[in-house]
Amino acid sequence: MRGVFTAAGRTADDPLHEPALAVHVEDLTVSYQGKPVLWDIDINIPPGVMAAIVGPNGAGKSTLIKAILGLVPPTAGHVTISGRPYKRQRRKVGYVPQRSSVDWDFPTTALDVVMMGRYGHLGWFRHPGRHERARALAALDEVRMRDFADRQISQLSGGQQQRVFLARALVQEADVYFLDEPMAGVDATTERTIVGLLQMLRDRGKTVIVVHHDLQTVQDYFDWIVILNVRVIAQGPVGTAYTLENLHRAYGGQISLIDRGPLAGPRGPEAPLDAAGDRHP
Ligand SMILES: Nc1ncnc2c1ncn2[C@@H]1O[C@H](COP(=O)(O)OP(=O)(O)OP(=O)(O)O)[C@@H](O)[C@H]1O
Ligand SMILES: [Mg+2]
Repeated sequence: MRGVFTAAGRTADDPLHEPALAVHVEDLTVSYQGKPVLWDIDINIPPGVMAAIVGPNGAGKSTLIKAILGLVPPTAGHVTISGRPYKRQRRKVGYVPQRSSVDWDFPTTALDVVMMGRYGHLGWFRHPGRHERARALAALDEVRMRDFADRQISQLSGGQQQRVFLARALVQEADVYFLDEPMAGVDATTERTIVGLLQMLRDRGKTVIVVHHDLQTVQDYFDWIVILNVRVIAQGPVGTAYTLENLHRAYGGQISLIDRGPLAGPRGPEAPLDAAGDRHP
């Protein structure tokens, strides 16, 4: 997509009427202990798409999201969300972190977790009332977790925890959502529920950005792709940027999607591969 969008985040051919890019990242470099894990990243994601971020373990996918949200300090670079710095858009951004990075022993109920999604709307000093509670319960209903509202989150299964976090994102009424591997380790039914909800958000005009590890489902679920491995390998509409060549550049020899003809035709007989090239029967 480079060249199509100007640095100001608007398309070159319609500078006045095109809405700002949902996410615009320019020259972003992030280091841990002096070692760069993201290098000179430029990313443009238009509004209203459902975008996948893919790349091997350690590629910097989670770090990219954290840097966009100001959770890790960049060494260099500039980020805007819907045309403005993240600090001014905080309420408009929803974030579901990677499950492994959440303290699930924190003593709180599913309902409390969802209500936290409303704090941005309430302000810190106001207590959530009946209205907020009803909103949170409705969201738990949407992810089919209402019966678990009073359950401690530590006592939920992984897939149930993911759905609670999704409900929290739903009540936030954000414009741009970042979800870090929301489908990791969930069963097929839960995955369909999650994808259905995310596509519904997209169809309402929201921008949904998902770190995703299952290369076999990228084309079914997403319309936009960012392929990452420390650097941006490729980005753009799935139909053009999601090529075997680009995947090989990102994953090296770890990937073999050969017989499926995944990037052009119908699925072959092979069992699905995950991003590490491991086969799951
Ligand atoms: N807090 C940290 N301190 C030091 N190094 C870190 C830290 N967090 C991540 N890293 C390193 O930065 C690199 C990128 O990590 P990151 O978690 O962003 O990768 P990822 O693409 O999300 O991987 P995964 O697919 O395993 O979730 C890795 O090499 C990782 O070891
Ligand atoms: Mg990660």
